[in-house]
Amino acid sequence: MEITILPSLLAADYGRLGDESRRAEASGADALHLDIMDAHFVPNLSFGPDVVAMAKRVVPSFPRNVHLMLSEPNRYYARFVDAGATSVQIHVEASCNVGETLAAIRARGVRNGITLKPATPASAVFPFLSQVDEVLVMTVEPGYGGQSFMADMLPKIAAIRREAIRQGAPNLMLMVDGGINDATAARCAAHGANAFVAGTTLFRATDMKAAVASMRDAATKTYGRELGA
Ligand code: DX5
Ligand code: ZN
Repeated sequence: MEITILPSLLAADYGRLGDESRRAEASGADALHLDIMDAHFVPNLSFGPDVVAMAKRVVPSFPRNVHLMLSEPNRYYARFVDAGATSVQIHVEASCNVGETLAAIRARGVRNGITLKPATPASAVFPFLSQVDEVLVMTVEPGYGGQSFMADMLPKIAAIRREAIRQGAPNLMLMVDGGINDATAARCAAHGANAFVAGTTLFRATDMKAAVASMRDAATKTYGRELGA
Protein backbone atom coordinates (compact mmCIF):
# COMPACT_ATOMS: atom_id res chain seq x y z
CA MET A 1 0.00 0.00 0.00
CA GLU A 2 1.25 3.46 -0.87
CA ILE A 3 1.87 5.55 2.27
CA THR A 4 1.34 9.34 2.14
CA ILE A 5 2.67 11.82 4.72
CA LEU A 6 1.20 15.32 5.02
CA PRO A 7 2.69 17.95 7.37
CA SER A 8 -0.06 20.27 8.68
CA LEU A 9 0.85 23.94 8.30
CA LEU A 10 -1.29 24.73 11.36
CA ALA A 11 1.75 23.84 13.50
CA ALA A 12 4.26 25.89 11.49
CA ASP A 13 6.01 29.09 12.61
CA TYR A 14 3.60 31.76 11.32
CA GLY A 15 6.42 34.28 11.09
CA ARG A 16 8.03 32.19 8.37
CA LEU A 17 5.22 30.45 6.46
CA GLY A 18 7.13 30.49 3.17
CA ASP A 19 10.25 28.90 4.69
CA GLU A 20 8.11 26.42 6.61
CA SER A 21 6.36 25.39 3.37
CA ARG A 22 9.77 24.88 1.73
CA ARG A 23 10.94 22.87 4.73
CA ALA A 24 7.89 20.60 4.41
CA GLU A 25 8.54 19.99 0.72
CA ALA A 26 12.25 19.36 1.28
CA SER A 27 11.43 16.83 4.01
CA GLY A 28 10.28 14.27 1.45
CA ALA A 29 6.64 14.53 2.58
CA ASP A 30 4.00 14.06 -0.12
CA ALA A 31 1.72 17.08 0.32
CA LEU A 32 1.03 20.08 2.55
CA HIS A 33 -2.15 19.90 4.67
CA LEU A 34 -3.91 23.26 5.20
CA ASP A 35 -6.59 23.57 7.93
CA ILE A 36 -9.33 26.10 7.25
CA MET A 37 -11.57 27.02 10.23
CA ASP A 38 -14.57 29.35 10.38
CA ALA A 39 -15.15 29.77 14.16
CA HIS A 40 -18.60 28.24 13.61
CA PHE A 41 -18.14 24.65 12.51
CA VAL A 42 -15.21 24.51 14.95
CA PRO A 43 -14.43 26.88 17.84
CA ASN A 44 -11.34 28.41 16.23
CA LEU A 45 -10.17 30.50 13.27
CA SER A 46 -7.11 29.72 11.20
CA PHE A 47 -6.37 31.15 7.77
CA GLY A 48 -7.97 31.51 4.35
CA PRO A 49 -7.29 31.19 0.62
CA ASP A 50 -4.36 33.63 0.67
CA VAL A 51 -2.27 31.12 2.61
CA VAL A 52 -3.09 28.43 0.02
CA ALA A 53 -2.01 30.90 -2.68
CA MET A 54 1.22 31.55 -0.74
CA ALA A 55 1.98 27.81 -0.75
CA LYS A 56 1.27 27.57 -4.46
CA ARG A 57 3.68 30.44 -5.12
CA VAL A 58 6.44 29.19 -2.82
CA VAL A 59 6.24 25.41 -3.45
CA PRO A 60 4.33 25.08 -6.75
CA SER A 61 5.12 21.38 -7.23
CA PHE A 62 4.11 20.36 -3.70
CA PRO A 63 0.41 19.29 -3.60
CA ARG A 64 -1.91 21.33 -1.36
CA ASN A 65 -4.50 19.30 0.59
CA VAL A 66 -7.14 21.68 1.97
CA HIS A 67 -9.27 20.54 4.94
CA LEU A 68 -12.37 22.75 5.15
CA MET A 69 -13.73 22.89 8.71
CA LEU A 70 -16.59 25.12 7.56
CA SER A 71 -20.35 25.00 8.13
CA GLU A 72 -21.01 25.96 4.51
CA PRO A 73 -18.12 24.62 2.40
CA ASN A 74 -20.36 24.87 -0.68
CA ARG A 75 -20.00 28.67 -0.47
CA TYR A 76 -16.22 28.69 -0.21
CA TYR A 77 -14.61 25.67 -1.91
CA ALA A 78 -14.21 27.53 -5.24
CA ARG A 79 -12.06 30.20 -3.62
CA PHE A 80 -9.68 27.53 -2.37
CA VAL A 81 -9.54 25.82 -5.76
CA ASP A 82 -8.81 29.18 -7.40
CA ALA A 83 -6.08 29.82 -4.81
CA GLY A 84 -4.32 26.57 -5.70
CA ALA A 85 -5.77 23.68 -3.68
CA THR A 86 -5.03 20.35 -5.37
CA SER A 87 -7.50 18.54 -3.13
CA VAL A 88 -10.44 19.86 -1.09
CA GLN A 89 -12.00 17.96 1.80
CA ILE A 90 -15.42 18.81 3.27
CA HIS A 91 -17.07 17.50 6.44
CA VAL A 92 -20.01 15.11 6.15
CA GLU A 93 -21.61 17.08 9.06
CA ALA A 94 -21.57 20.36 7.05
CA SER A 95 -24.80 22.28 6.39
CA CYS A 96 -24.91 21.78 2.63
CA ASN A 97 -25.73 19.14 0.05
CA VAL A 98 -22.60 17.03 0.57
CA GLY A 99 -22.91 14.90 -2.58
CA GLU A 100 -23.44 17.93 -4.80
CA THR A 101 -20.53 19.81 -3.24
CA LEU A 102 -18.20 16.82 -3.65
CA ALA A 103 -19.19 16.57 -7.32
CA ALA A 104 -18.71 20.31 -7.80
CA ILE A 105 -15.20 20.13 -6.32
CA ARG A 106 -14.22 17.30 -8.66
CA ALA A 107 -15.76 19.15 -11.61
CA ARG A 108 -13.26 21.94 -10.95
CA GLY A 109 -10.46 19.49 -11.74
CA VAL A 110 -9.11 18.84 -8.23
CA ARG A 111 -9.33 15.85 -5.90
CA ASN A 112 -12.25 15.75 -3.49
CA GLY A 113 -12.51 14.30 -0.01
CA ILE A 114 -14.99 13.62 2.77
CA THR A 115 -14.11 13.91 6.45
CA LEU A 116 -15.87 13.09 9.71
CA LYS A 117 -15.71 14.20 13.34
CA PRO A 118 -15.04 11.70 16.15
CA ALA A 119 -18.73 11.41 17.13
CA THR A 120 -19.87 10.65 13.58
CA PRO A 121 -20.13 6.95 12.73
CA ALA A 122 -18.23 5.36 9.85
CA SER A 123 -21.51 4.56 8.11
CA ALA A 124 -22.10 8.30 7.51
CA VAL A 125 -19.43 8.31 4.78
CA PHE A 126 -20.25 4.92 3.21
CA PRO A 127 -22.69 6.46 0.65
CA PHE A 128 -19.90 8.74 -0.61
CA LEU A 129 -17.04 6.25 -0.90
CA SER A 130 -17.53 5.74 -4.64
CA GLN A 131 -17.61 9.49 -5.24
CA VAL A 132 -14.44 10.61 -3.42
CA ASP A 133 -10.69 10.50 -3.87
CA GLU A 134 -9.94 10.73 -0.15
CA VAL A 135 -11.55 10.03 3.23
CA LEU A 136 -10.18 11.79 6.33
CA VAL A 137 -10.92 10.33 9.76
CA MET A 138 -10.51 12.94 12.52
CA THR A 139 -8.61 11.33 15.38
CA VAL A 140 -9.12 14.40 17.63
CA GLU A 141 -11.97 16.94 17.89
CA PRO A 142 -11.25 19.31 14.99
CA GLY A 143 -10.23 22.86 15.83
CA TYR A 144 -6.80 22.74 17.43
CA GLY A 145 -3.40 21.17 16.90
CA GLY A 146 -1.45 19.45 19.64
CA GLN A 147 -4.25 17.29 21.08
CA SER A 148 -4.01 13.63 22.09
CA PHE A 149 -4.91 10.85 19.66
CA MET A 150 -8.28 9.17 20.28
CA ALA A 151 -7.65 5.41 20.14
CA ASP A 152 -11.38 4.71 19.98
CA MET A 153 -11.26 5.92 16.35
CA LEU A 154 -9.29 2.79 15.32
CA PRO A 155 -12.37 0.59 14.69
CA LYS A 156 -13.86 3.39 12.56
CA ILE A 157 -10.74 3.41 10.36
CA ALA A 158 -10.97 -0.36 9.92
CA ALA A 159 -14.71 -0.17 9.15
CA ILE A 160 -14.14 2.40 6.39
CA ARG A 161 -11.25 0.43 4.85
CA ARG A 162 -13.30 -2.77 4.90
CA GLU A 163 -16.26 -1.02 3.27
CA ALA A 164 -13.99 0.52 0.61
CA ILE A 165 -12.65 -2.95 -0.17
CA ARG A 166 -16.22 -4.28 -0.30
CA GLN A 167 -17.19 -1.50 -2.72
CA GLY A 168 -14.25 -2.32 -4.99
CA ALA A 169 -11.97 0.57 -3.98
CA PRO A 170 -9.25 -1.17 -1.95
CA ASN A 171 -6.71 1.59 -2.68
CA LEU A 172 -8.89 4.49 -1.50
CA MET A 173 -6.76 7.13 0.22
CA LEU A 174 -7.76 6.82 3.89
CA MET A 175 -6.25 9.63 5.93
CA VAL A 176 -6.02 10.26 9.67
CA ASP A 177 -5.60 13.68 11.31
CA GLY A 178 -4.94 14.62 14.93
CA GLY A 179 -2.37 13.44 17.45
CA ILE A 180 -0.40 11.52 14.83
CA ASN A 181 3.16 10.47 15.72
CA ASP A 182 5.09 7.31 14.79
CA ALA A 183 3.28 5.15 17.35
CA THR A 184 -0.24 6.34 16.53
CA ALA A 185 0.50 6.28 12.77
CA ALA A 186 1.53 2.63 13.12
CA ARG A 187 -1.73 1.80 14.92
CA CYS A 188 -3.84 3.64 12.33
CA ALA A 189 -1.96 1.92 9.49
CA ALA A 190 -2.59 -1.47 11.08
CA HIS A 191 -6.32 -0.60 10.91
CA GLY A 192 -6.16 0.43 7.25
CA ALA A 193 -5.11 4.11 7.13
CA ASN A 194 -2.55 4.91 4.43
CA ALA A 195 -2.26 8.71 4.69
CA PHE A 196 -1.07 10.59 7.77
CA VAL A 197 -1.55 14.26 8.63
CA ALA A 198 0.79 15.48 11.36
CA GLY A 199 1.32 19.03 12.57
CA THR A 200 3.09 19.05 15.90
CA THR A 201 5.15 15.88 15.31
CA LEU A 202 6.58 17.03 11.97
CA PHE A 203 6.86 20.82 12.30
CA ARG A 204 8.31 20.65 15.80
CA ALA A 205 10.89 18.07 14.73
CA THR A 206 14.41 19.47 14.49
CA ASP A 207 14.98 17.17 11.50
CA MET A 208 11.70 17.01 9.58
CA LYS A 209 13.22 14.80 6.89
CA ALA A 210 14.12 12.14 9.46
CA ALA A 211 10.69 12.51 11.10
CA VAL A 212 8.88 11.97 7.79
CA ALA A 213 11.03 8.94 6.94
CA SER A 214 10.46 7.47 10.37
CA MET A 215 6.66 7.92 10.19
CA ARG A 216 6.55 6.44 6.68
CA ASP A 217 8.57 3.47 7.87
CA ALA A 218 6.36 2.93 10.96
CA ALA A 219 3.18 2.96 8.85
CA THR A 220 4.60 0.77 6.09
CA LYS A 221 5.58 -1.92 8.58
CA THR A 222 2.15 -2.29 10.16
CA TYR A 223 -0.24 -1.55 7.28
CA GLY A 224 -3.28 -3.83 7.33
CA ARG A 225 -2.22 -6.00 10.26
CA GLU A 226 -5.49 -5.55 12.18
CA LEU A 227 -7.78 -5.76 9.18
CA GLY A 228 -8.04 -9.53 9.13
CA ALA A 229 -7.93 -11.47 5.90
C1 DX5 B 1 -7.10 19.89 13.75
C2 DX5 B 1 -6.50 19.85 12.36
C3 DX5 B 1 -5.23 19.10 12.25
C4 DX5 B 1 -4.08 19.60 13.11
C5 DX5 B 1 -3.42 18.37 13.67
O1 DX5 B 1 -8.41 20.37 13.68
O2 DX5 B 1 -7.42 19.25 11.45
O3 DX5 B 1 -4.81 19.01 10.89
O4 DX5 B 1 -3.13 20.35 12.41
O5 DX5 B 1 -2.46 18.77 14.58
P1 DX5 B 1 -1.57 17.75 15.42
O6 DX5 B 1 -0.84 16.88 14.43
O7 DX5 B 1 -0.67 18.65 16.19
O8 DX5 B 1 -2.51 16.95 16.27
ZN1 ZN C 1 -6.68 18.91 9.32
